[in-house]
Amino acid sequence: MSQTAELTLGGKSYELPVIEGSEAEKAVDISKLRGASGLITIDPGFKNTGSTQSAITFLDGEKGILRYRGYPIEQLAEKSNFIEVAYLLVHGELPTQEQLSAFEGSITEQNDIPEEVKTILEGFPKSAHPMGVLSAVISALTAFYPEALNPNPTKEEADKLINGLIGKLPTIISWAYKMAKGESTVAPSKEDDYCTNFLKVMFSKEGEDYKVDPVVVDALNTLLILHADHEQNCSTATVRVVGSSHASLYSAISAGVSALWGPLHGGANQAVIEMLEAIKEDGGDTKKYLAKAKDKNDPFRLMGFGHRVYKNFDPRARIIKKSCDEVLAALNINDPVLDIAKGLEQEALNDEYFKARNLYPNVDFYSGIIYRALGLDVELFTVMFALGRLPGWIAQWKEMREDNAPIGRPRQVYTGATERDYTEVSAR
Ligand code: CMC
Repeated sequence: MSQTAELTLGGKSYELPVIEGSEAEKAVDISKLRGASGLITIDPGFKNTGSTQSAITFLDGEKGILRYRGYPIEQLAEKSNFIEVAYLLVHGELPTQEQLSAFEGSITEQNDIPEEVKTILEGFPKSAHPMGVLSAVISALTAFYPEALNPNPTKEEADKLINGLIGKLPTIISWAYKMAKGESTVAPSKEDDYCTNFLKVMFSKEGEDYKVDPVVVDALNTLLILHADHEQNCSTATVRVVGSSHASLYSAISAGVSALWGPLHGGANQAVIEMLEAIKEDGGDTKKYLAKAKDKNDPFRLMGFGHRVYKNFDPRARIIKKSCDEVLAALNINDPVLDIAKGLEQEALNDEYFKARNLYPNVDFYSGIIYRALGLDVELFTVMFALGRLPGWIAQWKEMREDNAPIGRPRQVYTGATERDYTEVSAR
């Protein structure tokens, strides 16, 4: 039976429909409230606002549940691979063997980038942060593939565009990386699987027989799967809003990369390693840093802790912590920063401040340690997050366009000056 909510204000009441999701989540639909009452709702940071209905990812932050298209993240991270998960997110169902081969084939076939894009990459200073480079170059792709500007592509055209972008991202990332290091670039492979190709274009050098370690491929698949989608977070909401104006997929994804860059979002994985390094340099005194994080007069926050929606353990953090131990053991790496991370986590979990606010380690707390073990520079950690998140952004963009979502355009409560007359200060 459909329910309604009632809002009473100034002696008048308004009936508001209540919608219910497939996991019994309920929401009051206020979309017609302004027309009926002149009222808007206000919710800074959208802390309690649903911007869409979506069938892609289910997340229960109180219980620590995360599922893509109904499949638990734990099962996908253990048994699936990144490209299969990308297909699942974008197309809604797990692929048949035939569908998977066609999807992978189309991604691999389009993994080259135009020579002119290489020239653009060469124009960046070597010190440029790779997230800025990535965002700029993805946006620039519209110039080379103007068909992306068509807001109503056929299914074939949309699939080609989507698969092409998934294919090109590893090449853009690795070429930017190689150029920043002053090394020559390596052409993407047409034979290898997605993760093996990524590792080869990143790490192989001309004339060298680079062997990819299966432990590393496995860890990379796990990490990318864990990052692949996370419902309406800051970058995904950005992708949807930009795409809602019918700007090209490249523009929307470029904006998503920019949103992910910040240390409160994807940039936290870089910030965590920098924080752990700083604690190590400072003698390893974790208590001192916990005290700083609790001090309201100190801007320092414990990076990799806390989450807008998880008020319980982030399920991705559990998987990553285990994977971190396995990868470091398999690669025979002893990273002192891991001991600091584990010590800090234990102290925080037993601390009243963190307990009272339900602050737990999030996905970024341990991911940087694995990325470092895989041989990636700290500035690339957020780029890896973007590589993993790409299929999620695309799936959300595709769902938004297929639902014919209206342009994202919030309202505001104005608090500035009321009308006043202009007085001339200098002649025009
Ligand atoms: N260290 C110390 N205190 C914290 C932290 C932290 N990491 N996170 C939250 N708090 C405190 C905060 O000061 C506030 O305390 P009080 O109620 O006394 O004012 C309370 O906890 C609630 O925090 P909030 O800032 O209102 O929560 P939010 O939902 O707006 O912010 C967050 C969520 C992720 C931005 C925040 O927890 C944070 O800054 N964490 C560190 C950065 C980080 O690790 N980000 C990665 C998130 S996971 C990857 C992703 O999906 O983006």
